[in-house]
Amino acid sequence: MKALPLQLSNAIDRELASLHPDKIRNACFELTQRYANGQFIETQLHRQAYIAARLPATYGVTQDVFRRIGPFLKPVKSLLDLGTGVGSLAWAAADVMPRLKRVTLFDRDIELLRLGQHLTQNNLDPIQLAWCRDDIAKEEVFPTHDAVVLSYVLNELSFKEQIQVLQRAYGAADKFLILIEPGTPQGFEHILNARTLLTELGANVLAPCPHNGPCPLASAFKEGKDWCHFSVRIPRGKYHRRAKEGALPYEDEKYSYLVVSPHPQPHPKDRVIKAPIRKTGHVILDLCLEEGSIERQIISKSHGKQYTTARDIDWGDEWNDSSYLSPQE
Ligand SMILES: C[S@@+](CC[C@H](N)C(=O)[O-])C[C@H]1O[C@@H](n2cnc3c(N)ncnc32)[C@H](O)[C@@H]1O
Repeated sequence: MKALPLQLSNAIDRELASLHPDKIRNACFELTQRYANGQFIETQLHRQAYIAARLPATYGVTQDVFRRIGPFLKPVKSLLDLGTGVGSLAWAAADVMPRLKRVTLFDRDIELLRLGQHLTQNNLDPIQLAWCRDDIAKEEVFPTHDAVVLSYVLNELSFKEQIQVLQRAYGAADKFLILIEPGTPQGFEHILNARTLLTELGANVLAPCPHNGPCPLASAFKEGKDWCHFSVRIPRGKYHRRAKEGALPYEDEKYSYLVVSPHPQPHPKDRVIKAPIRKTGHVILDLCLEEGSIERQIISKSHGKQYTTARDIDWGDEWNDSSYLSPQE
């Protein structure tokens, strides 16, 4: 489970301490309703609701995506976070990018940036943080950085704005462009459209797809049958539990994502695209294959080492051993 860094979670607790629990709960409920209606953060209470209920989830997802491509991120020295909110991405980046020197954080909401600065203080020193008020839909060019991220932002842009922002974000990404959206059909649709646009621009897909070809789930998605998404377990903190009125100390956050690079990437590996089904003596894996197709494979005890690997594999992991297996009849 991906817990918030202690300093960040303490800072959030301090920020919310003076608010009556009912007030936070109502604000969280209102924010959820607003998102469902295509409305976003407007008031200080919405911002506080965001850090109580949504930030732990978006932080956990970001960390999970970074973990999946961890070795590639080691050389990253500069990061541009478009639509940063309170900048929780910088905390996740500091964990996996040992050479990170500077992070530029763009958001149009000055109060979210202020709250982010207040929560962060000097805790990410010596990384330099530049908090910039900016409407990314109106920006002609973004400054070049090693990695550029749009996390839970495409959803807040019109289709036309998404295309412009993606083109400019890709143009600003020296090494990687990372997109993260909710693991809903709508979130996946944004990722799928972005993937089509970016591969047309010559981008090389690093994750989750093990190929640059058309998405093999696209037709099932158009028929409303399936979509590509993953899941991460998020521990609920004190305010998060209160806000969500949840009995469980955790929640499973679904997400869709895409990582592309302007440079050719090493040979990709097949990906487990659904929760593995573990039965006595065999494991069923749904895989996206490097040939650009989807296949269900059954790995039984007779497969020896592959079976041992399959027993431990998780939804979203890479799978190296398809060549040993025969597809399910
Ligand atoms: C759902 S929040 C996500 C925040 C953060 N990226 C995260 O993952 O937690 C969406 C953010 O995008 C920002 N945003 C939406 N449209 C924007 C625009 N046109 N220019 C700049 N920021 C924008 C909002 O102000 C908000 O902070």
